Amino acid sequence: MDKLIITGGVRLDGEIRVSGAKNSALPILAATLLADSPVTVCNLPHLHDITTMCELFGCMGVELLVDEKMNVEVHASTIKQLVAPYELVKTMRASILVLGPLLARFGYAEVSLPGGCAIGSRPVDLHISGLQAMGADIVVEDGYIKASVKDRLKGAHILMDTVTVTGTENILMAAVLADGETIIENAAREPEVVDLAECLITMGARIKGHGTGMIRVQGVERLDGCTYSVLPDRIETGTYLIAAAATGGRVRLKDTQPNILDAILFKLREAGASVEWGDDWIELDMKGKRPRAVDLKTAPYPAMPTDIQAQFTALNAIAEGTGRITETVFENRFMHVQEMKRMGADVDVEGNTVIVKGVEQLKAAPVMATDLRASASLVIAGLVAEGDTVVERIYHIDRGYECIEEKLQQLGAKIRRVPA
Ligand code: EPZ
Repeated sequence: MDKLIITGGVRLDGEIRVSGAKNSALPILAATLLADSPVTVCNLPHLHDITTMCELFGCMGVELLVDEKMNVEVHASTIKQLVAPYELVKTMRASILVLGPLLARFGYAEVSLPGGCAIGSRPVDLHISGLQAMGADIVVEDGYIKASVKDRLKGAHILMDTVTVTGTENILMAAVLADGETIIENAAREPEVVDLAECLITMGARIKGHGTGMIRVQGVERLDGCTYSVLPDRIETGTYLIAAAATGGRVRLKDTQPNILDAILFKLREAGASVEWGDDWIELDMKGKRPRAVDLKTAPYPAMPTDIQAQFTALNAIAEGTGRITETVFENRFMHVQEMKRMGADVDVEGNTVIVKGVEQLKAAPVMATDLRASASLVIAGLVAEGDTVVERIYHIDRGYECIEEKLQQLGAKIRRVPA
């Protein structure tokens, strides 16, 4: 397995482009299964998870055309089988996103039940109960979700017990072809849900209220193809801003979308960074200063994203003062803490809160990535540690960060990938 070797102590300085959002690209690729004619998805990030979704389509016999910019044209009408096999789903939980579209368009779907995951049990009970409320017959047997509907899904009023991003997305994709009106109450408000809804509207869907907790859908008979470009990745954006702040450096990010990053931008100002932005760019300058420790609590959008919590923990590890970081979305999202301790961080977990007492200097150490965002936080810790930090199992990083070492090298970091 590849490793990253990072020689710490360099102040990041430079400009990079932000890639398309993984968590928008995945549901939008799934949504292409709903259209009668080809859909072209643009601004896709070059990530392992995107490749996995394309492999899943290949497995189902769906024809894809990929151009040199990695824009993908999907011909859903060529589909041969309505099964998402365990071999692929076990590598990417987001494969569950094909459940709603397959059921709504073809009346049947067999999707492997996603297993557990490092950050939590991550059940999909709300995906299933929402589709059942729309008239789907669903059994879970032999590790597969087997869903069918005789004629057509029926619109329903669905109240989500918990705010779930992919749960909202699965039900939204099922509702657009259902007969009648569907109301999704306590819906996820994430920008990626809004991006999916906007793509579906471009295909001819009738959706209102996306981005609020109450989404209303009027089902239509069919959806047409379109060309759609996914929105920039707000978590990648936040990760590079935090990396620049941790090193006392400066970064300008382009092709991003500042208006969906309020929680992160305001928190970075609290940490002492100078942060300016325009329509599609953000500039952070730490002016060589040591960041101030910050307190934060993760929660569904527009609050602080759970996907940026580990990265802020790395910032707090070398900040002035003590910061408290509380995780309220997932039950086990502190695996990076033990790894940071090995680098000399003064961090302790108390229930769902990690208390970080900033130290002057971290020390390089061999560390292991356990999940996508934890790995990013270890890279940030490596950027500020004295010596060469080796981050192992970086396949986690390759799932969510396009060309991470090239982008960091563009910012002046001393980082290189060592093939296994
Ligand atoms: C999405 O995961 C993202 N993944 C995650 O990003 C992100 O951390 C998460 O939303 C929260 O923002 C994609 O969009 C592909 P949830 P998702 O359903 O939809 C509970 C990353 O790093 N729940 O919103 O799987 C669940 O256990 C990844 O890019 C149920 O109880 O998360 C959790 O506690 C990691 N029953 C809470 O809801 C269900 O049926 C929120 O999970 C569904 C969820």
